[in-house]
Amino acid sequence: MRILSGIQSSGRLHLGNYFGAIRQFIELQHEGEALFFIANLHALNTVRDAELARELTREVAVAFLALGLDPTQAVLFRQSDIPEVTELYWVLGTVVPVAHLERAHSYKDKIARGIAPDFGLFAYPVLMAADILAYAADVVPVGKDQIQHIEFARDWATKFNVQYVKGYDPQDPAGLEKGHAKGILKLPAARLQERTAVIPGIDGQKMSKSYGNTIELFGDEKEIKKRIMGIKTDSTPVEAPKPTENSPLYELLRIMAPPSEFAEIDRSWRSGGKGYGEYKKKLLEYFHATFDPARRRREELLRDPGELDRILEEGARRAREIATGVLDAVRVAVGLK
Ligand code: TYM
Repeated sequence: MRILSGIQSSGRLHLGNYFGAIRQFIELQHEGEALFFIANLHALNTVRDAELARELTREVAVAFLALGLDPTQAVLFRQSDIPEVTELYWVLGTVVPVAHLERAHSYKDKIARGIAPDFGLFAYPVLMAADILAYAADVVPVGKDQIQHIEFARDWATKFNVQYVKGYDPQDPAGLEKGHAKGILKLPAARLQERTAVIPGIDGQKMSKSYGNTIELFGDEKEIKKRIMGIKTDSTPVEAPKPTENSPLYELLRIMAPPSEFAEIDRSWRSGGKGYGEYKKKLLEYFHATFDPARRRREELLRDPGELDRILEEGARRAREIATGVLDAVRVAVGLK
């Protein structure tokens, strides 16, 4: 089983990235051949400063390692180090219906917020599909916001195979039945952890860099405290039972507290007697208990930039080997070779 996923280097990592994605990545690295990358090409859509783009790329790489990614177990690399991906992006684009891109949630969402769309934003799902298909990934662990993109990748891989593979039957993509051929592009499956599919931000919307509602994993201690103490709550009095619906504080406690302690929190939350401030202090404690070891590892890693370069180079070499195999077949199929 080949597992693949990526994270954009468009900002500092936050709780949503960790509980929605990275925690699963770390668990999955022992379950198959795992490839994880820093989506620094996607990040160019929002980061328009070269120095910052470089810094954030390294920041995400270091975060992966600090949080437990083992580079001898999983392949860690920069998206931009694999030119085969951008080549596949173009070839794939020739079979992508514009209507699909027009109904992409990420695109529609940004338009709705008044962001003037560039071609890069519009074409973003095509590059993401190329990322997945260039490595013939079987499983793509992601948060809920990325599911539509993986469905697109499956659709477009099917379109490509139908167009270019003689004997390909979409009902039998692996070509198991007699007379059927296997697709050149492999259909990936999304892997979603239901419990943490959408992590709320401090305002109750999905936690996202673009909403400015994040709690950063490696942020400054004071800022983290400020963010946690600023989580949106209602005016329920201390003695009264608190509502559990639409409460980012309750949701974050559910995700971060050890299960045995959460049972007690849940009991007092529903019966009343504690104020929101007390719960926020508890959440801050859980934050530090969960992330302080990684925060310390990150400091160590930052002291050795040469080692990070070495890991990324080796990762790119291994990733490229896989992508080259897939692209060789694609080039022949479409007539570039
Ligand atoms: P990105 O960088 O926005 O997010 C990285 C991962 O974190 C998850 N995530 C969340 N999960 C739950 N709750 C949240 N509030 C939350 N915020 C973020 C995302 O679902 C994602 O899994 N397009 C991708 C990057 C990418 C990619 C790929 C992923 C590029 N190519 C190929 C998989 C395969 C993105 O922007 O993720």
